[in-house]
Amino acid sequence: MADRYLSFTATAPGRFLTARLGLPQPAALSRWTAERPSLDGHLMHLRAGGPSGLDLAPVLARTGLPTATEAATGSAGSATGSTTGSTAPAAVVLDATGVRDVDALAEVHAALHPVVRSVAASGRVVVLGAPLDARDHHQAAVQQALEGFVRSLGKEIGRGRTVNLVRLTDASAAESTLRFLLSPKSAYVSGQVIGVGTAEGPDGPVDWTLPLAGRTALVTGAARGIGEAVAETLARDGAHVVVLDVPQAAEDARRVAARLGGSALTLDITAADAGERIAAELPDGLDVLIHNAGITRDRRLVNMPAERWSSVLDVNLASVLRTTDALLAKGALRTGGRIVATASIAGLAGNAGQTNYGASKAGVAGLVRSLAPRALAEHGVTVNAVAPGFIETKMTAAVPLFIREAGRRMNSLAQGGLPVDVAETTAWLAHPASGAVNGQVVRVCGQSLLGA
Ligand SMILES: NC(=O)c1ccc[n+]([C@@H]2O[C@H](COP(=O)([O-])OP(=O)(O)OC[C@H]3O[C@@H](n4cnc5c(N)ncnc54)[C@H](O)[C@@H]3O)[C@@H](O)[C@H]2O)c1
Repeated sequence: MADRYLSFTATAPGRFLTARLGLPQPAALSRWTAERPSLDGHLMHLRAGGPSGLDLAPVLARTGLPTATEAATGSAGSATGSTTGSTAPAAVVLDATGVRDVDALAEVHAALHPVVRSVAASGRVVVLGAPLDARDHHQAAVQQALEGFVRSLGKEIGRGRTVNLVRLTDASAAESTLRFLLSPKSAYVSGQVIGVGTAEGPDGPVDWTLPLAGRTALVTGAARGIGEAVAETLARDGAHVVVLDVPQAAEDARRVAARLGGSALTLDITAADAGERIAAELPDGLDVLIHNAGITRDRRLVNMPAERWSSVLDVNLASVLRTTDALLAKGALRTGGRIVATASIAGLAGNAGQTNYGASKAGVAGLVRSLAPRALAEHGVTVNAVAPGFIETKMTAAVPLFIREAGRRMNSLAQGGLPVDVAETTAWLAHPASGAVNGQVVRVCGQSLLGA
């Protein structure tokens, strides 16, 4: 499972050799640890275009990163302002919400051209854009242009640095999103466009250290792999976690639950009454529902028996639809609840040998986009999806060497992600302060070339 090439390129001879041969040089990514919870360095706050109307400074100040004004003699401000810090910025936030025409778009270039090179390794570039204005095609053109800009910069920036675009109208509604993107928790999220709406905040102040304290989270397929990492991360954030898995994995599920101080629930999620059984198990309801259980049964369509088709569609899609419907109908998800389903880039891009899997995972994205506004209006529950790319798990360790190596390297970070990368993204979507993030399908793929 270990990525030996990544370890090799981290050594001096490895770096030398791979540079001489023109081979990919993945940078070891800095990930969140309790000892190192923030990026290392300051935040540079820039602006392009007219005044945006966002009250961004207080929100950025709460990320814990010193802003350029504090860290250096220059002051953060417009694209033409004095912006250089004395050390490499760990993050650059460019507010481009006021960009309404092509001339103003030039200010995006003017703002980032001089500073991009100086962004620290494993640093962040976050561009803020406005929703596209259906009545102003000039605004819509240049705001859409930001997508192409961000995705292109993500592909060239290198050194483990990520570039993402957030479309927003309210800075405080986007606080959890900005904190996530400006932290080591988003190490493998790059080239994404994330829409943040407006939403009333959670009742009472947010506990940013233990945001899920007093909440119950159920994770399907949590006995191992990505689901186990999700369970661990939600428990770290204070949740009581219910570890659900099939009877064959009961022992592992119990072990994970015991380690996390949670409980185990042995259940095949494809059971017709799975939703009812979950509701019966949790009579007080639940706050976070993570649909993670998933299977592959790969074959090209010409060789695929109906059973391979139906088993994948049943686990990955039909059971997600059934249990979601049953739990919402019973009112088992409390107000402020969060549903996070697991799609895949194979569902967004398509993958040879995976017509069943690709269909099921694209279906998850369709479910999320359709249900999200209604679930929020009727139940106060958000619905989002994570779409992992190549993640280092037992599933991908079983892939033949050459295909595995291609899958690992064919992304902007030139490496596979770790289960914890999917887990951190899930935890951001499950956060009580993420109520304005709804109907999003966020790829955790290091900006994979697949379907980019
Ligand atoms: N590993 C990757 O690179 C990758 C990429 C994209 C998407 N995903 C998705 O992420 C999710 C987790 O993947 P993983 O790599 O950790 O897989 P995994 O096979 O390691 O773990 C899946 C877990 O789901 C459980 N499960 C399977 N069927 C179940 C059922 N009917 N009821 C209850 N539990 C069931 C399994 O017992 C297992 O514990 C899946 O939805 C998968 O499709 C993974």
